[in-house]
Amino acid sequence: MVKKILAANWKLNKNPTQTKAFFQELKKQTFHSGITTIFFPSATCFESAQTELLGTQFFWGAQNCYTQNQGAFTGEISAQVVKEMGGGYILIGHSERRQYFLESDEFIAQKLKTIQDLNLVPMLCVGESLEQREAGLTVEHLNKQIQVGLSLADKGKKLILAYEPIWAIGTGRVATVAQVQETHSEICNILNKIGFPDVPILYGGSVKADNAKELASVKHVSGFLVGGASLEVSSFTGISQGLSSLLSQ
Ligand code: PGA
Repeated sequence: MVKKILAANWKLNKNPTQTKAFFQELKKQTFHSGITTIFFPSATCFESAQTELLGTQFFWGAQNCYTQNQGAFTGEISAQVVKEMGGGYILIGHSERRQYFLESDEFIAQKLKTIQDLNLVPMLCVGESLEQREAGLTVEHLNKQIQVGLSLADKGKKLILAYEPIWAIGTGRVATVAQVQETHSEICNILNKIGFPDVPILYGGSVKADNAKELASVKHVSGFLVGGASLEVSSFTGISQGLSSLLSQ
């Protein structure tokens, strides 16, 4: 059975005490074994995540890292230290990083290489703005983000893609099933064309417990990257149930 992936992007939310409380509550719930569940807490909470998740079925990772593992780079996060602490995944290219911290596709490609060189799993986020969608530029934009973003990628190593239309992030405006289906199939074509046919593609953007099941049934949707609705155990568990309803028990 191909596993589904459920990832929680906590952004700049929760302190160590809240992180621990969340995981203690989470561990009381039952999760389907066919789902790989990954949490992305903020960097100041890695230690709390590792302490609570060690020996469980859950994984954690970082929301960002730098291209270098050490040196004079004030304020940056070392992927190597993430690995040493027990993290397994690193998000790169989230639209908030692209928008507020001006990260380019080339810079993101370098980060991806650093992550893969450490045998950690990069989760590359891509997605178009509303203006791009309305101008009919979605595929062109995704093509560039994916081609440049993966230009230094190792085909033999693990990698996850997350499609997050910017206009659906944190807005409550979820993409329709038809939009998700069409765009995921375009992404699949791009990945096939450049030699990455087996990369799982997650959908992200206002995923909630009440739309998870419908979105999970869309072809080429391998799981979700969830922001707001991942901050409460109850809503996150609801999404996990929506995703697992399509898996055999
Ligand atoms: P959202 O965020 O679920 O709150 O829309 C998704 C994301 O930014 O990863």
